[in-house]
Amino acid sequence: ATVADLAGRHVVVSAGGTREPLDPVRFLGNRSSGKQGYALAAVAAARGARVTLLAANTELPDPAGVDVVRVSTAVELREAALKAAADADAVVMAAAVADFRPAQYATGKIKKVEGHEPAPVALVRNPDILAELSERRAAPGQLVVGFAAETDDVLANGRAKLARKGCDLLVVNEVGERKVFGGDTNEAVVLGADGSDTPVPYGPKEALAEVVWDLVAVRLA
Ligand code: PMT
Repeated sequence: ATVADLAGRHVVVSAGGTREPLDPVRFLGNRSSGKQGYALAAVAAARGARVTLLAANTELPDPAGVDVVRVSTAVELREAALKAAADADAVVMAAAVADFRPAQYATGKIKKVEGHEPAPVALVRNPDILAELSERRAAPGQLVVGFAAETDDVLANGRAKLARKGCDLLVVNEVGERKVFGGDTNEAVVLGADGSDTPVPYGPKEALAEVVWDLVAVRLA
């Protein structure tokens, strides 16, 4: 039986991948489906939490009993995250956020010009939402959880990222061809700012979500 150990809590989860527009028809994006974030939202709701799900460009059905806020770009996600986090007990950033966006948005479709090389695309940095949420906690004791998609040196890179971002927990999943992005399964290590690490064996994304909420619930108690 599911324990309602998150009853009375408000949790915020981001899911999906941001899209950074180049022109009205093109964007820079990534392969996040939103499945891991949706699993986190559904499990938190089942455990009694009030859940705000910030969904970036996902095509999944709304989880039952969850407030869904739709966003597209990193800048929109930042706005929505800061707003939702204002009264949240925990924020989990499972979304894949673009680190950069095109410096210019062309209001008309970019055309190819015969006999000319394409113009390079200049990029500018996006805000780091996780670092900002960690830095400006809405209340003392608010928990901030990040995800890290790493392809090599998973643990060392994860530890460094945890320190850099300033969050309480970092879920490090190894990505690769046909791994994590888009699928129904995941395998991860959850690193704690307290030095803990919790390996989560290969399994459904819901199982990883249960472990994340276990670690959050213990820290909120
Ligand atoms: O959606 P699925 O198909 O189920 O795939 C799940 C997933 C692979 C997308 C998910 O498990 C995952 O790992 N999400 C984070 C992916 C990622 O962008 O990692 P990162 O190492 O680039 O970012 C680290 C953390 O900082 C993340 O919590 C990210 O949300 C956050 N971030 C990153 C950049 C930025 N500008 N702002 C941020 O807040």
